[in-house]
Amino acid sequence: MNLVVRFESERDYYQIKHINDMAFGQENEGILIENLRKNQQYVNAISLVAEINDKLVGHILFFPVQIANNEKIHQSLALAPMAVLPAYQNQGIGGELIRAGLEEAKDNGYKSAIVLGHKDYYPKFGFKMAKNWNIRAPYTVPLENFMAIELVEKGLNYVSGTVRYPAEFNDVG
Ligand SMILES: CC(C)(COP(=O)(O)OP(=O)(O)OC[C@H]1O[C@@H](n2cnc3c(N)ncnc32)[C@H](O)[C@@H]1OP(=O)(O)O)[C@@H](O)C(=O)NCCC(=O)NCCS
Repeated sequence: MNLVVRFESERDYYQIKHINDMAFGQENEGILIENLRKNQQYVNAISLVAEINDKLVGHILFFPVQIANNEKIHQSLALAPMAVLPAYQNQGIGGELIRAGLEEAKDNGYKSAIVLGHKDYYPKFGFKMAKNWNIRAPYTVPLENFMAIELVEKGLNYVSGTVRYPAEFNDVG
């Protein structure tokens, strides 16, 4: 399999929406991505695509969020959403997207990332329950689905609080 993971470009936008629509079976996540592109923080987001023989088959987005504890605010990145075309799932493409995204996040100076997702999937890449650091979701979610990862040693030392997502996330059902 000739898999390439690279940054998105504008000409990928249509296919990224399609991948999300197909993977999630609904349009909400694709619309979320389109809305986030209009957010001024999008310049600090990491948006990667997975390509096989010039066909886009997967996408991952990391968007800046804050972990806030009263006046103490830490910058982090939320992994959301990610999607692989159904016919290409379970071949390791999602894993490659996660690894590449976390590496890029680290290179960009981020010390942590968080994710709300499958409890058996993300721990394979080093995510642990965010509760371990007293990091909470702003929504009511099962504790085991809300996870964080340190991108550098002690990246979440003395970090705790509630994650603040941009308002665009409130509309995702
Ligand atoms: C989640 C997703 C991106 C993974 O992509 P992928 O290319 O299939 O991932 P990989 O091949 O690297 O890993 C597949 C593993 O994920 C696991 N997995 C997939 N969906 C899962 C789920 N809902 N819950 C738990 N594990 C899941 C598979 O069982 C497989 O496990 P294994 O490695 O032990 O065999 C893909 O399944 C997808 O697009 N799903 C629909 C959209 C979605 O749920 N996105 C994530 C939102 S948090």
